Amino acid sequence: MNKKVIIIGGEGNGGVIASCIEDNRNRFHDYEWQVYGFLNDYEKGKTINGYRVHGGLDEIDKFLKEDVFFIFAIHMIGRNELIERTFLNLEIPDERFAIIKHKTAFIANNAILEPGVFIMSNAYVGPVARIGKCSLVMANALIGHNTSCGRLCHFSVGSIASSYVQIGKVADVALGAKVLEKRKIGDFGVAGAGSLITKDIPDYEIHTGTPAKFFRRVKDN
Ligand SMILES: CC(C)(COP(=O)(O)OP(=O)(O)OC[C@H]1O[C@@H](n2cnc3c(N)ncnc32)[C@H](O)[C@@H]1OP(=O)(O)O)[C@@H](O)C(=O)NCCC(=O)NCCS
Repeated sequence: MNKKVIIIGGEGNGGVIASCIEDNRNRFHDYEWQVYGFLNDYEKGKTINGYRVHGGLDEIDKFLKEDVFFIFAIHMIGRNELIERTFLNLEIPDERFAIIKHKTAFIANNAILEPGVFIMSNAYVGPVARIGKCSLVMANALIGHNTSCGRLCHFSVGSIASSYVQIGKVADVALGAKVLEKRKIGDFGVAGAGSLITKDIPDYEIHTGTPAKFFRRVKDN
């Protein structure tokens, strides 16, 4: 109860995570987590959505010595390799990541959420699905049964990944994108906003449109 969580990131995904924790507390009387503040290299000494920014990412070591947990909220769509590099530099042990789920989300009892996963309101995670470490599942995203993703993936608001979809690491299913069953999205791959993915997306590629076609490669810096 009242475990402290530091959000690594900014007002976008980080603000959403903070609002989820507050809603769980205020409306659902779920006091498992409390927001302890943010770490953000660009907002040191300021506040984000009213929460204190304790410092930059170089403060992680200090907080690892304290009784706090972390959630990694940095996700820049199309700059997927940079996200992973930033994450790996932090060297946060798995047991120090919070798993945060909004109370209105459906998560099947045999789905697996790895450390650091965030699941927002009205999301659905079906049976035998596996959500990789520090992946973000935003509001109304639907992840079908037996679908899996690697670490640091991001399912934007209203996206749908059908069943038996295999998604690599640091990949995106963007706003309202839909992925047909049994398709694959490679490492650092992106299903662009509003796309219908009928063919596999290779590593590093962004596909858009309905049916989706190659759009460009993700940036490598
Ligand atoms: C695929 C994506 C990354 C492309 O971004 P981008 O490279 O910055 O592309 P631009 O915005 O510069 O657009 C370039 C062109 O592609 C088109 N385009 C961009 N995204 C498109 C998409 N998803 N589907 C179809 N066409 C798209 C634009 O209309 C533009 O066309 P034009 O040259 O004829 O004017 C972006 O569209 C996307 O999907 N972003 C994710 C949004 C999201 O999920 N946000 C999360 C919020 S929680």
